[in-house]
Amino acid sequence: MADTTPPNPANPLAGPHVWNLISENYTNGLLPFFEHFSREALRLAELPPSPLLADVACGPGTLSLMAALEGARVKALDVSPEMLEQFRRRVAESPLIPPDRVEILEGDGQNLPWKDETFDGAFSMFGLIFFPDRAAGFKELKRVLKPGRRAVVSSWAPRTGPFALVLESIAELLPGYPFGKGKAPLGDPDEMAGEMRAAGFRDVAVHRVEHSERFASLDAFWKRTQSTAAPLALLREKLGREEWERVSRGVHDRLRDAVGEGPLESPGLANLGVGVKPSAT
Ligand SMILES: C[S@@+](CC[C@H](N)C(=O)[O-])C[C@H]1O[C@@H](n2cnc3c(N)ncnc32)[C@H](O)[C@@H]1O
Repeated sequence: MADTTPPNPANPLAGPHVWNLISENYTNGLLPFFEHFSREALRLAELPPSPLLADVACGPGTLSLMAALEGARVKALDVSPEMLEQFRRRVAESPLIPPDRVEILEGDGQNLPWKDETFDGAFSMFGLIFFPDRAAGFKELKRVLKPGRRAVVSSWAPRTGPFALVLESIAELLPGYPFGKGKAPLGDPDEMAGEMRAAGFRDVAVHRVEHSERFASLDAFWKRTQSTAAPLALLREKLGREEWERVSRGVHDRLRDAVGEGPLESPGLANLGVGVKPSAT
């Protein structure tokens, strides 16, 4: 389906545009890596048996599908129709999931369509961090949770390893672009904890979860990264094919000089913020 939604220039990772662009590659290439963090989030949520869960900015259903396979009922929402298409396809291909176990909705995580005090757990994995109004995202998660239940929200710590080298290389090759110079949203655990407390969560704790991916070669790493990383997809779109190919070769050469032809390991360090909805709000 053609995507006609323009990116938001002030915050290009907000809104559906870039996520529509990469939805298929994200699903085919990144999902197993992201599942690792969702598994940890489900554990940290301390859920009751057969819980009802909210998965906000669900993408291709990374957390939802895993939870549904373990007996949860899930209401999942995302702003990107193409991500939701991937999710629907995955549900259809999972014979172990009864049709009423997962409800999938297109919408904005800053304004949830669900009633107060509905869910036994509420999650936003690497999604709320992109909302223009994060406070609204946190407030909505708290509103739809039952008192005493937990929300889990994840962010990336500033990247290290080959991915950080990619960002540095692009900044060198395109000095006029602000690329890679911004701060990782909620990359600092204290900032994550502060925003959760400000939204009214109690017993807030931020858990650091590390998971590395191993690539057989530098080529494999760079091919996968180019096709799945949202900021790179936007940059490629902006530069056009020819200019992007020049930049891509430059990044590849710099990476080869720094880390060799591989195999190589790409570390990912996430902050998982966990907070409890107080009983009396
Ligand atoms: C990095 S993906 C994460 C997907 C999934 N939660 C996971 O862990 O794999 C970010 C997702 O946030 C969604 N998103 C961004 N802004 C949103 C908003 N305002 N409301 C709902 N979803 C949003 C995107 O469409 C995308 O699917």
